[in-house]
Amino acid sequence: MTNNELTRRRFIYGAGAAAGSYALLPLYSTKPFGDVHPSPSFPAPADSLKDHAARCGLLYGSSVQQRQLASDQPFRAAFISQCSIVVPELELKWAYLRPGPQTYNFSGADYLCEFAQANQMKFRGHTLVWHDALPSWFAGYVNSGNAQTVLLDHISTVMARYAGKVHSWDVVNEAISPADKRSDGLRNTPWLRYLGPGYIETAFRAAAQADPDALLVWNENSIEEESAKAESKRGFFLQQLKYLRSRGVPIQGVGLESHINGNHTNIAGPGFKQFLGQVSDLGLKILVTEMDVGDQDLPYDIGARDQAVADRYFQYLECVLAQQNVLAVLTWGLSNKYTWLPYSFPRPDKAPMRPLPLDANMKPTPAWSAIARAFDDAPSR
Ligand code: G3I
Repeated sequence: MTNNELTRRRFIYGAGAAAGSYALLPLYSTKPFGDVHPSPSFPAPADSLKDHAARCGLLYGSSVQQRQLASDQPFRAAFISQCSIVVPELELKWAYLRPGPQTYNFSGADYLCEFAQANQMKFRGHTLVWHDALPSWFAGYVNSGNAQTVLLDHISTVMARYAGKVHSWDVVNEAISPADKRSDGLRNTPWLRYLGPGYIETAFRAAAQADPDALLVWNENSIEEESAKAESKRGFFLQQLKYLRSRGVPIQGVGLESHINGNHTNIAGPGFKQFLGQVSDLGLKILVTEMDVGDQDLPYDIGARDQAVADRYFQYLECVLAQQNVLAVLTWGLSNKYTWLPYSFPRPDKAPMRPLPLDANMKPTPAWSAIARAFDDAPSR
């Protein structure tokens, strides 16, 4: 291994186990952690998921928005204490980066990249090619004549700005949709309509040129369950991955979004395990990129709800982390104070949702303990 390769491996996989003592909480305790370790100023937890993760060679982190870190000091402190990797929830999407066809606004993404560097966290890029979160000018401006130029300009400009500072980039996002009834399973997006299926290869090749240090990932949703729908999606995804690898396309990782419904126990089944093995056999790394456990269909009772959410976290992570090519686990939000779920999947009773490892007061939930135990039980990598 050359020095360059060694540096790149350290960059992507992290420095290894972190030091620090910790007291293991009883698994799935519904008693708030803060009662055990009270703090007069703010209840930032004394123990951290990043340390549990580091002991088996993993990174743990979360998505976040600039305004959350800038306006909420207890949240910011909790984020710094818990996370070794961060991904912008919004700030690297087209709708935020691209006020106009010729212009870029990097302020939010710069803030988060600097925050990551200042706090020794890895920084993930999300996302370069997606059908969602496109700016309002996109539909009236992009067409089959200019789509390739627009796409390549975006990839090279955005990636160049953060080159050498990004752990991994979601180059292509949510590009499979069997419901769109194409024989290749690809989603019917503007990129597909203007450029054909080759847009995926084009994007990965451009990404590899723009930042040779970042791990290049295809991030996909809704493949975690043991259902005909998810099975079909996994099949098409695998077919695409094999095709890209056979053509020498520089794709290096798969992102499993992992938005789990807390009421669905049909996760971590044989079809999903087989898929993980097949992805690994292709030589690809795996990242859990957006995990949360939605409690929209769970009973109101907080103890029962937290227990079910924690159970799903452990069930899923125990399965995924058995694969030693999994590099990182990120949740889609750290604290229940900031979760996208109520906007898209509100509870019928409108009760505040509890899908994440910290509660709204920055105290660890039973989900926190379940994630920590999954890290503790995972094989080293
Ligand atoms: O910031 C504006 C605010 O000023 C305005 O008042 C409000 C009115 O609706 O909208 C706010 O923006 C919203 C933004 O979230 C911030 O909350 C956007 O409308 C809304 O579209 C945006 O949704 C985000 C969505 O991606 C689209 O970008 C969610 O927060 C974000 O969690 C979600 O994340 C996606 C991943 O990127 C890909 N995988 C699935 C995941 C969940 O959907």
